[in-house]
Amino acid sequence: MASNLLILTLIFFISSLSSTATTNPSSLSSSHVSHALKKTGHKMINELNLHPNREVNILKSNADSLDDELKVSESGLAEKRLSLSVLGDSGATVADLAQHAGYFRLQHTIDARMFYFFFESRKAKADPVVIWLTGGPGCGSELALFYENGPFKLTNNLSLIWNDYGWDKVSNIIFVDQPTGTGFSYSSSDQDIRHDEHGVSNDLYNFLQAFFKAHPDYIDNDFYITGESYAGHYIPAFAARVNRGNKNKEGIHINLKGFGIGNGLTHPGIQYQAYTDYALANNLISKSDYNQINQRLPACEQAIEQCGATGSDMCQPAYSFCQQIFEDILSLTDNVNYYDIRKKCDGSLCYDFSNLENFLSKSSVKKALGVPSSLDYVSCSDLVFRSMLNDWMRNLEVEIPALLEDKIQLLVYAGEYDLICNWLGNSRWVHAMSWSDQKDFISALNVSFIVDGKEAGILKNHGPLTFIKVHNAGHMVPMDQPRAALKMLELWTTGKLLQPNKGVGAGAGAPV
Ligand SMILES: *[C@@H]1O[C@H](CO)[C@@H](O)[C@H](O)[C@H]1NC(C)=O
Ligand SMILES: *[C@@H]1O[C@H](CO)[C@@H](O)[C@H](O)[C@H]1NC(C)=O
Repeated sequence: MASNLLILTLIFFISSLSSTATTNPSSLSSSHVSHALKKTGHKMINELNLHPNREVNILKSNADSLDDELKVSESGLAEKRLSLSVLGDSGATVADLAQHAGYFRLQHTIDARMFYFFFESRKAKADPVVIWLTGGPGCGSELALFYENGPFKLTNNLSLIWNDYGWDKVSNIIFVDQPTGTGFSYSSSDQDIRHDEHGVSNDLYNFLQAFFKAHPDYIDNDFYITGESYAGHYIPAFAARVNRGNKNKEGIHINLKGFGIGNGLTHPGIQYQAYTDYALANNLISKSDYNQINQRLPACEQAIEQCGATGSDMCQPAYSFCQQIFEDILSLTDNVNYYDIRKKCDGSLCYDFSNLENFLSKSSVKKALGVPSSLDYVSCSDLVFRSMLNDWMRNLEVEIPALLEDKIQLLVYAGEYDLICNWLGNSRWVHAMSWSDQKDFISALNVSFIVDGKEAGILKNHGPLTFIKVHNAGHMVPMDQPRAALKMLELWTTGKLLQPNKGVGAGAGAPV
């Protein structure tokens, strides 16, 4: 591993020093890159105690027989109403609360089917429609559904129990498995595998069009895009795609009001620079380690710049290169959980989400969800992960200013103890972003984000832009602070995070 990276380093220098080199550095480097990256993706999955049976849901032979099982209708929709037995009290005030799972046959693909859950709000059908995207890239959104903000949680004996802080308490929420090949989403063609945000955002947009066609009652509801981690890439691209579709009057007008990114990776150029600062400030590394590791920064920055300027060839090398900063920090810590620096990984295990796979591989569950029996649940797809590595170092912040100018709300929030997508890097790109009210945002006061009379975070807002550092939380804010996360969603989607006249409102307290 170390020698691979050294070779990479040298290749990178050769290619960056001499654009007229007669060798072809990108083809030389790609085999080293993919070997190192294959390990990275696999390691990441195993650390969550996830062990998918397949590396992707591309089923070449039997897609037709799957269709028979699904009974896909003319519209491309195969949706079924769920009736799962759930312990506890839903607290629902909606009499005919409905929950659905289904597949949409994605247009503009060879053969892709996107799997989703749709949970109607337990409170009111007029609540906003929210879509949630888990990151990875390549992890199914069921990770959030069952461990973070879904309507129910898994017990140790694989029963379901109502989640008192499910986001379906204040929204009609959709969880999707994407990009294609992830979770229960599948295709018979590997040409449907996505490599960039262009492919990802078009698939999501087409899904959304089909979704609203099938659920016209919700077309006028407010619509919000949310998600976590690598979704810091998907979300700005998807929001921009929806906004463009609206402006071009393509299909159904989508009532996009906002997009929220939790502990995301959005602007790698700024966020990779913040790793050592965050690690030093949190005593993960010493000052001399800090100085040492920072020597990697100029080359990382240059690689990111080349990735941005020249397209895909330099993007994977930039990833390997910059990722070494993160690896260096980890190697100096005592097995710290990089999703939550208050915790340690137990051996190679940082979280145990294995019940997710145990539950979703039960044939009774697959049947209840309308999932073809021959499909396996791919919790996180190695192949989807690797396929997106040209995308990793791209800066998605560039999509955002135009959305803010159109008064579409952006909420960036981050649990303060996450290292991998830490609040510092997120705060920095949010502040550095150039838009018409940037100066006002920068000079806005920090206020307390108050939940149940206690400060749950530090909030900064101006106009459509809000940043929240969430206390006592790691990478997965809705898992660590479920009550605060639900309140945050509720206040944000009802415009009550701040009262505009006072600058301090229902959710926020005194300036801090
Ligand atoms: C499973 O665990 C829950 C508590 O977590 C309990 O209420 C339930 O009775 C258990 N079910 C079975 C079948 O043991
Ligand atoms: C505002 O809060 C952030 C943390 O979210 C902190 O880094 C920053 O220094 C604070 N700014 C002021 C002016 O206190």
